[in-house]
Amino acid sequence: MAAARILIVDDDPDTQRVLGYTLKQEGFQVLVAVDGAEALRVREREKPDLILLDIMLPKLDGYQVAERIRAEEGSVAHVPIVMVTAETDIEQKVRGLRAGADDYLVKPFHPAELLARIRSLLARFAPRVADTTGHAAAGRVLAFYGAKGGVGTTTLAINAAIALQRDQGRRVVLVDGNLQFGDHRVFLDLGLDRKSIVDVVVAPTIDQDLLKSVLIHHDTGIDLLLAPPSPEMAELVNADQHHMTQIIELLRQRYDYVIIDIDKRLDETNLDVISASDVVFVVMTADLSCLKNVRLVLETMSQLGMGSGRVQLVLNRSTAYTGITVKNAESALRRRIAYQVVNDYRVAITSLNTGAPFAVARSDTALGKSVVEFVRQADRLDASSSDATELAPATT
Ligand SMILES: Nc1ncnc2c1ncn2[C@@H]1O[C@H](COP(=O)(O)OP(=O)(O)O)[C@@H](O)[C@H]1O
Ligand SMILES: [Mg+2]
Repeated sequence: MAAARILIVDDDPDTQRVLGYTLKQEGFQVLVAVDGAEALRVREREKPDLILLDIMLPKLDGYQVAERIRAEEGSVAHVPIVMVTAETDIEQKVRGLRAGADDYLVKPFHPAELLARIRSLLARFAPRVADTTGHAAAGRVLAFYGAKGGVGTTTLAINAAIALQRDQGRRVVLVDGNLQFGDHRVFLDLGLDRKSIVDVVVAPTIDQDLLKSVLIHHDTGIDLLLAPPSPEMAELVNADQHHMTQIIELLRQRYDYVIIDIDKRLDETNLDVISASDVVFVVMTADLSCLKNVRLVLETMSQLGMGSGRVQLVLNRSTAYTGITVKNAESALRRRIAYQVVNDYRVAITSLNTGAPFAVARSDTALGKSVVEFVRQADRLDASSSDATELAPATT
């Protein structure tokens, strides 16, 4: 495969040199533009595979450049753009993402982080063609995002991960992204003595060998990256250094699926997980407060430039009576509910209490079958081709 070509847009010769050197070392081809106007010309002429775009540029600034590029490419092409900024402000990030950036980096950043983000984007936007080169294609990253606490996000993430491994024969790693109150240890009957993500982030460098030594191989067949053993250790997982992004990027090189369980918070760490995901499953139940949250989160995700195919609604406990039908929920959200998982509190809670996931112990139950069916469909789903999730606006 030809080396990916990366366009560096920066007016500072030192930055150009340092970035150029780092990228060439890793086998990338490097193109340089010194201002916004030149960036547009080079993009047009050279069709780079990715653009590193500084925000502070002479003539056109980074936001304007990103907007122009998106306007010029139309809806067919999409060159990944990483905004480079000196600001840590979340407002800036949102503005950059709105202008059409796919990701952002805050100066100063570590070369490992730069490379992790670049690889992640190249993998995400590479055309998914059948792999004839013998190289393992990068695995897919699926986030399970709970629109509200208690809707069953962890239950679904764990059981879906196990079903992908057992029924679909995939290599699966499950990451507990609830950094403060992660409960995979409870669900999977593991003690506090097990290694966790903390052991990854405190190491001087994050690499495959380190990850291998921290991941836990569970009896169910999946591998686990556990949350910190206590809430105050959560902050060791650092959003400024994009620990999550680095970890996800390494994991996707070795697994068919990286499954991440996150809660409803839209903080920097969760936004990193969401940006790195091929698909975000928004887990919900059919009640009003959940619908409200889902509405808000769909809006935020679309502002972040997440195409609707990358965000899928999963209705959990779909057969429970709530007074709101699937049809009601869909028309309120103007979105199709892509998946439904039935209600079975007895099976769900017994499996939690015994630490034996129902995808293993009770796969013959309606709940077990429902998750297997979900996973079968999700395994077939190609994020880039499923744009049919948006409903036409209601006519009433
Ligand atoms: N499909 C289901 N049917 C019945 N109960 C469920 C279902 N999914 C999850 N539960 C139960 O809901 C509770 C909350 O689940 P959990 O996965 O911890 O939610 P979250 O991670 O969203 O906070 C648990 O007691 C779990 O057993
Ligand atoms: Mg949970």
